[in-house]
Amino acid sequence: MPKFNFIERNDTRFNSVNWQKLGFGKYFADYMFVANYRNGKWDDGKIVPYGPFEIEPSMMTLHYGQTIFEGLKAYYNVKGGINIFRPDKNAQRLNNSAKKLVIPEYPVELFIQAVKEVVHYNKAFVPQKRGESLYIRPVLFGNSNVLGVHPSDDYMLIIFASPVASYYEEGLNPVKIKVADNYVRAVRGGLGSAKTAANYAASLLAGQEAKKNGYSQVLWLDGVNLSNIDEVGAMNILFVLNGEIITPSLEAGTILNGVTRDSVLHLAKSMGIKTSERVISINEIFEGLQNGKLSEAFGAGTAATISPVGILSYKDNDYVLGDGKIGTISQKMYDTLLGIQYGEIEDKFGWIIQVN
Ligand SMILES: Cc1ncc(COP(=O)(O)O)c(C=O)c1O
Repeated sequence: MPKFNFIERNDTRFNSVNWQKLGFGKYFADYMFVANYRNGKWDDGKIVPYGPFEIEPSMMTLHYGQTIFEGLKAYYNVKGGINIFRPDKNAQRLNNSAKKLVIPEYPVELFIQAVKEVVHYNKAFVPQKRGESLYIRPVLFGNSNVLGVHPSDDYMLIIFASPVASYYEEGLNPVKIKVADNYVRAVRGGLGSAKTAANYAASLLAGQEAKKNGYSQVLWLDGVNLSNIDEVGAMNILFVLNGEIITPSLEAGTILNGVTRDSVLHLAKSMGIKTSERVISINEIFEGLQNGKLSEAFGAGTAATISPVGILSYKDNDYVLGDGKIGTISQKMYDTLLGIQYGEIEDKFGWIIQVN
């Protein structure tokens, strides 16, 4: 395991944070981890102050988008320590994304170690209020300076952190989601399951139109027939139909294998709630709404945690779910997940890594 160089901390950034109004992704913690891939291998990496770095206009990622990222969180636990939630899953997903984008993988153990170091050196930036956390953003991109469409020779991995509150202004209040009926995000055989810039770039226009009309995010349908449900802009989607939690399966490779989605499915099983991962058509959802069998819908994501869906809009009609209030199962998932993350509930799954 490499020993990272430690640079004395300073409080300039810390003092500029508005702790009463953190929002999401507005402030950045003092230190970041940087590793470089040169001549076919990763260097040891080091912790350096967060800040700008020089790039050349020909840097490949700017042109061809060979870049992948991750998102995970560290929580102040009730015993005064810091919990990181399932960093191994993010390390594995980063490497899955890497395969799709022809990027060299980064060893899982070194990734976890680097995340721990970033949290350790930025300890003062971990918010202490429940519901707030230190969001950790690893980003890995090709940075050779050359033009032409081919994979980069050189790469850089940066892991930085941001103290955050809720992703949505609504907090735990239900969000309004617009079903995309004229744009697509991903198709079978494409990049949908990778956490890469292209997927988010493809979502911007639809997202902006949805926001203009008062919706928080877009629910994507499959990219061929626009008939089956994929996922929401920054979270996976789960429904409660006939008391069972159903969610789109990962099989088509068009959606992100969410860590929160996976955690909810595990929690549901441990609570004796039936779950199924399968193809879900938009028609099945509207039928369920009409016959009263669909009781809840919620998004699941690291940034958004558990986010109940209050309104689904499809082809200019708004459909209200569960009286527009958070449902029983969504609430239970939210309470249990946050309980584990903040150390109030025993972690029976081995999901937490402690940092002191
Ligand atoms: C497109 C998309 N789907 C799903 C998720 C949820 O994944 P996770 O629970 O790992 O944060 C995210 C957020 O990272 C996302 O950006």
